[in-house]
Formats: sequence, structure tokens, C-alpha cells
Amino acid sequence: MRDLQKKAIEVLNKNWKEGFSIPCANLYPFQWFWDSGFIAIGFAHFDMAKAEQEITTLLDTQWENGFMPHIVFHTESDSYFPGADFHCSDLHSESSKKYKSTGMTQPPVTGFVLQELYRISDNKAETLKFIETVIDKVYHNHMYFYKNRDPKNEGLVYIYHNWESGTDNSPIWDDIWETMDPPEYTFERRDTTHVDASERPSKREYDHYLYIIDIAKEHHYSDEKIAELSPFLVQDPLFNAMLIKSNQSLINLYKLIGSSKEKVNQLEMWQEKSIKSFNHKLFDEEIGAYIHYDLRNERPLRYLSSSSFSPIFANIPSKERAAAMIQVMMETFGNEDQYLCASFDPTSERFNPKKYWRGPVWVNLNWILYNGLKQYGMDDIAERVKQDTIAIVENNGFYEYFDSRKEMHENNNAGYGGNDFSWSAALLIDLLND
Ligand code: GLC
Repeated sequence: MRDLQKKAIEVLNKNWKEGFSIPCANLYPFQWFWDSGFIAIGFAHFDMAKAEQEITTLLDTQWENGFMPHIVFHTESDSYFPGADFHCSDLHSESSKKYKSTGMTQPPVTGFVLQELYRISDNKAETLKFIETVIDKVYHNHMYFYKNRDPKNEGLVYIYHNWESGTDNSPIWDDIWETMDPPEYTFERRDTTHVDASERPSKREYDHYLYIIDIAKEHHYSDEKIAELSPFLVQDPLFNAMLIKSNQSLINLYKLIGSSKEKVNQLEMWQEKSIKSFNHKLFDEEIGAYIHYDLRNERPLRYLSSSSFSPIFANIPSKERAAAMIQVMMETFGNEDQYLCASFDPTSERFNPKKYWRGPVWVNLNWILYNGLKQYGMDDIAERVKQDTIAIVENNGFYEYFDSRKEMHENNNAGYGGNDFSWSAALLIDLLND
């Protein structure tokens, strides 16, 4: 175990770029929003200064309106498509004047990451001082979401692109692609020069991705116009669970700091409304778990994915609902021949255990589920998630994602996508030290 931890630390130090971390070399050569949050949790165990710097740099990229971009292009690199020249974040009048970025965001993890830094820290007074210097930016980010991403005032925010979900190539988005007919773009993919094409999305899928961005760009990334016109407008249970978890962490931290009563009141109001709507609108009784909602076409997207169970991390379901839901998870995803937790329903025709979010196991989702299970006192299943996570990394290395089928691990080559991947290392360190 000590060896594994040592290797994980090496991966993080290798991907550290003077002020921020990249998810992995070549495939993802910039700073990604939610990756940075998970990475900071790993650093907190052995280098708190880097953990704090990671978050400081990330929050420095915030736009004037509170928006946080999903990729920050700190350096020129042509190993990634679509890069800064495609996204043109400066089209938005309030975008960062200092950094080029995308005009999309990612799951808002920063709030709960700050609380994790506090939990891990062995100098809590110092860490709280650091948190005081950045917490208002995170609050501003939440304000942005509730103000601009909730057109019906439900307490549930939308995403307008699959790249905002973090689960970029989930089969759930297939239902959205069926409603669209984008033009055929001419472009040079870079991802498939680093990673086997069978593990990545298709050319036609990329046409959809680029087209949604083009529509947003045409309207200078105006939130109002996006809400009105984007063919992709989804309420995602993982994304909203991250926001709710982060709301709660901000409440806890502001209380510890002992200031900002008004902000705490506002957060508590959001929290109450969001959790209520979440349980009402995103829970599917028949499926027995949470699902996505297609706000553009006003229809539920009735599929099971690892995102379906993530609300336990944010204490959203009641104890009874959580217990029944985890039973569904174990029956569908938890057979002895599978590692927990496949990213998509293994019984579905759309399941593909080798392809990017269409089936493989991801360390960050496992970490979310592990912590959620522990909160509900489901220690045995939590332990299985933890041991499965350690096993897939030990068998194969610090890959981006892993085959869920145990038989595929016999030759230790069931890790896919990028290697020496930062969040796989960071969250493994956290699991090993728990
Ligand atoms: C992939 C993942 C996304 C992640 C990014 C960088 O695009 O789908 O969640 O943030 O890689 O690691």
C-alpha cells in the first residue's frame, strides 16, 4: 500500500505545472475545473501549499459574473482540440481578461473541496485562514448558477453541453443527439493520436459537441440566449448533487469562520428548495434511482448510470430511499464478476465497458459513492467500493478509466484512456488514508 501511495504522489508531482495541475500529459495539457478540485484533495495529504495553490489558481480564473470555466488554457499547446481559438471565451463581456478558457463550466466541486482540505489538514487554524481568503469566490459561483442556470426557478440548475456534465460521453446524451442534426465539421482530432479510437467518442459525436458551442458563441455565451436556444439543456443529477454538497460545505465553513450570516441564510434557502425539487423531479420510482431531465424537450431521460446514485454524497435521499436505491445499484452494477461502479447500466444495450463514460469505472465517481455510502452507514458496500478502487489501480496503474469486467483484468491491461491520470492518483491517496 505504501508503494501505491508513493507512486500516486509521483503522478501528482509530475502533473504539477507551477501553480496548477494538468489531468495528464498529452491528452489533457491544461487545467480542468473539477479535476483541480479532486487533485487538491490528494495534495492536501502531503503538500498543503500545493493544494491551496491549485485552488487559488483555479478561482483566479473566475469571470466577473461568478462563472467558472471548465478548461483554462494556461499555455499554448496544439496537442488538444478544440483549443482556445475555437472557444473564444473573450466573446463574453465578463470573461476573464487574464486567462483564455472555454465558455462552459463543470460540476461545482470547489465548496466541498475546501471542506475536505479542512478535514485533512493538521493545522486547521491555518487552513481556515486560507479558506477565508477564497470562500466568497465560491459563493459567487453558486450565486451565478442560481441566477443564470435555473430559468424556472426550481432550485435545479441546467447544463448546456455534455462537456459540462463531467461524464462527457455518457449514453444518456444519445437521446439528445437524436433531436439534433448538426453540420459536418472539418477538423483534426488530437485525442485519438494519444488514445485508441475505440476508447473515445466518434467523429459524428464531435460534430454535435462543436455545434452546441457554435450556437453559444453566436450569442456571445449569453446565458439567457443559451437557455432559450441551446438544443442541449439538461438537469443532471450528478452536477446538481455536487452543487448541493458544496452549498452544505459553504454553510459549514462560514459557520466555522463565524461570519456572513446573510450568505448562510441564502445558502440555506437554496439548499432547502434544491433538495426538495431534486427528490421530487429527478427521482424515478420505477427505476428506483435518480435520473437526468431533458429541459429542452421536457422529458425525463430514464437511464441508470453511476450519476444516478451520486445524490447520497450530498445527503439528498431519505435513509429509506437511499437503502432501496443502493439495493438497485448492487443488483444491477454489483455482481461478483463486475468491479463497482460501472459508469453506465451494465444490462443496457448501450453499455460499453471500454469506452469513455459508456461503461468503465472511474475513480472520482467511486470516491463520491464511497463517501456517500459511509454517510448513510452502509459500511460494507462502502468497503467494497474502496477495495474495488484500490484493486483496479493496483492491477493496471493510474489510468483515467477501467474496465468494469473482472475477467478483463487478468493481464493487467484493463486501464484505458490517459495514464498517470491525476485524479485517479489524488483520490486513491485519500482512500488509502481514510
Ligand atoms: C474528460 C472527462 C472530464 C474531465 C476531463 C479532464 O473530458 O470526461 O470529466 O474533466 O477529461 O480530465
